[in-house]
Amino acid sequence: MSISVHDYDPLDIAVIENPYPYYAQLRTTTPVHWIESVKGYAVSRWDDVQTVLRDVGTYSSMGFWPELLGPFDPVPEVLPMISLDPPRHTVIRKLANKAFTPKLVNALEARFRQIANSLIDDLVSSHGPSGRFDFVERYSGLFPVSVISELLGVDVDRRQEFKTWADDILSASNRAGFSAARAAEVQASKSAIRSYFEELHDRRSAAPGDDMFSSFIHAEIDGQKLSPEEAINLGVLLLIGGIETTTNLIGNTVAHFGGFGRSNALDLLPDLLPLIDEMLRLEAPTQLLFRHTTRDTHLASFHIPKGSLVMPLLGSANRDDRKFEDPDRFILKRAPRDNLTFGQGPHACVGSYLSRIEAKVALEVLVNRFERLEVVEKSRSWIHSFFARGPRALATSYLAAADGDLVRAAH
Ligand code: HEM
Repeated sequence: MSISVHDYDPLDIAVIENPYPYYAQLRTTTPVHWIESVKGYAVSRWDDVQTVLRDVGTYSSMGFWPELLGPFDPVPEVLPMISLDPPRHTVIRKLANKAFTPKLVNALEARFRQIANSLIDDLVSSHGPSGRFDFVERYSGLFPVSVISELLGVDVDRRQEFKTWADDILSASNRAGFSAARAAEVQASKSAIRSYFEELHDRRSAAPGDDMFSSFIHAEIDGQKLSPEEAINLGVLLLIGGIETTTNLIGNTVAHFGGFGRSNALDLLPDLLPLIDEMLRLEAPTQLLFRHTTRDTHLASFHIPKGSLVMPLLGSANRDDRKFEDPDRFILKRAPRDNLTFGQGPHACVGSYLSRIEAKVALEVLVNRFERLEVVEKSRSWIHSFFARGPRALATSYLAAADGDLVRAAH
């Protein structure tokens, strides 16, 4: 089937299932392409995507959150960091950076490993030493929410609720297709997350804990504290930003390899980061971003009027053959440093190191604990989102390893 650029509609299910042939057409023929359904310009080549992300004077982030969440923003009174331009962005970003340094993340690696092992313990105790399970439901979907809940200082035993709230709110990017019932569900999640954080804000203001949310409440920027709404917004942003993205990274990796136990991955240990980076390039968990032009401009010789929505397609930039040789293939030794999966410029992902370490630990634990882990459903169903990319479910069969600690000890 031949594909024309005019077939590219990010809301179309065929595009959601496999956007890559459409991206290739866009890059070849119209690298800055008007899309009627979303009333914005899609930018598909690596160089141009980089320009959009770096030129914050022309491509503002202020409209990002309203564009993504519309009426489902839990804290609409203030914009979160991801949706601010300098100088306000710079000061809040400095505060967030402190919470995510590689040193802090490395110090937590052993704890992440315990969390991942406890998920496998739960699975084996409920399903037995061999059987089938949904990898997304029981592992990749639970691990990142457990980690971020613990870091933020929200109640880990309510992680299933956080995940539902965060997934629901992020799904608002697809609100154009919501039924009334679905809109009511997402509205309920929006209210629940807001109430939860308001109550937590009161608790931690009175009695700070040794957690990230307490540090946001009590931090001072130029002698001033964040307002309750700003602190809550930062907490919500981290919860939303850190869950589905990392879940999809882990899910995409296991789906790509058709499983990830000793029988197919032992030789990839001990250093999984090059594999994770190549996976991030090949299947970007965040496929696109939103910017708005502050002035008339030209990009790749296309005119873009002031006030336009511009969508840099990260998933396309990562497969641009002007940048990456044989871009549709997974090539382990490529270890791409310049994939755009985490964005670039001032808004580049604050959790990128954390999520790479989470994925590394999650995969190492799989190799350690499973003799064999195999994806049994060959046809993949993707999350119905043009923003996020990852498997909705992954039916997996497994055989638990009897000597789960041996590999752990060796690495
Ligand atoms: C594979 C996992 C992840 C992917 C693919 C990803 C992707 C991204 C991208 C593309 C951006 C740039 C947004 C922009 O330029 O508008 C971003 C920003 C951000 N991410 Fe991530 N992210 C991931 C994991 C995380 C984690 C684990 C956290 C936190 C716990 C997090 C929190 C954030 C925040 C707060 C921002 C806003 C930064 C700013 O505006 O300065 N992300 N992420």
